[in-house]
Amino acid sequence: MKRDLVSIFELEERDIQRILERAAYFKKSNPQGYYPLKGKSLGLIFYKPSTRTRVSFEVAIYQLGGYPIFLKAQDLQIGRGEAIKDMGRVLSRYLNGIIIRTFDQSDIEELAAYATIPVINALSALYHPCQILADIFTIQEKFSSYKGIKVVYIGDGNNVANSWLAAAAKLGITLSIASPSGYEPTGEIIARTKQIAQKGANQLEIIHDPYRAVQGADIIYTDVWTSMGREEEEAERLKAFAGYQVNKELVAATQKETFIMHCLPAHRGQEITSDVLDGENSLVYEQAENRLHIHKAILDLWIT
Ligand code: CP
Ligand code: NVA
Repeated sequence: MKRDLVSIFELEERDIQRILERAAYFKKSNPQGYYPLKGKSLGLIFYKPSTRTRVSFEVAIYQLGGYPIFLKAQDLQIGRGEAIKDMGRVLSRYLNGIIIRTFDQSDIEELAAYATIPVINALSALYHPCQILADIFTIQEKFSSYKGIKVVYIGDGNNVANSWLAAAAKLGITLSIASPSGYEPTGEIIARTKQIAQKGANQLEIIHDPYRAVQGADIIYTDVWTSMGREEEEAERLKAFAGYQVNKELVAATQKETFIMHCLPAHRGQEITSDVLDGENSLVYEQAENRLHIHKAILDLWIT
């Protein structure tokens, strides 16, 4: 049976561990002549811009012997009102998998329901699962294990924060989120997270004070204040997020050695200062590289 990757909530810890192991294998060995996607074509449907996700998925498909077809959503008939279920049914007759970046998570879920081939979420307004898998891989590389690590997410309760909540709950990572009032992860995500977290012993908190949140942080993570699709809110967001910048003072407040993560693209001088982003404890470019290894792992395990 085909398997989709629409969010971290559908993965178990052992699934995540298999992905991490496979990614480590690809990164370490860079196997030549291993072409599990030979003769297979994958569609990349993108409604939003992308640098990392698009390029690393296309390269991953190519390196595994497959054929990537980049499909700008505006150029598809879906842009003129074709139903998602029709697109899913039809593309399933040509392709071996679909990677999609769009606005509504429900569109990805609908596509997955009607496509008979795997559908992989390359970001929606609600989740960014492939990013968080690469982040966890990066943390595991740095600390040998993600167990016992405290991650502090500063900023917008967006797709990245939501996927972090799901991952932390599944893996028992301590996660503290500091967001301005009104910009926290939504109640539905919190409820889903709490259901899983009840089974584990890790701590998850969502608060407003970034200085309190970063106490004892191993990782400080941030993302843009204005995500794709919310550009008209930028002016009010700039005001709301003042005080949530990841800068030298905030990093010093952890009172221990702390590493810095950001999914990128970064808005230097807004959510993070250049000295922190470029500093010696920044993991951001390793994180970006690891997207490639993680995508190879996902493709190898998901596309059959
Ligand atoms: N982090 C990330 O998904 O980057 P892109 O938008 O460039 O793909
Ligand atoms: N939260 C950001 C992530 C970009 C990779 C956005 O959705 O624009």
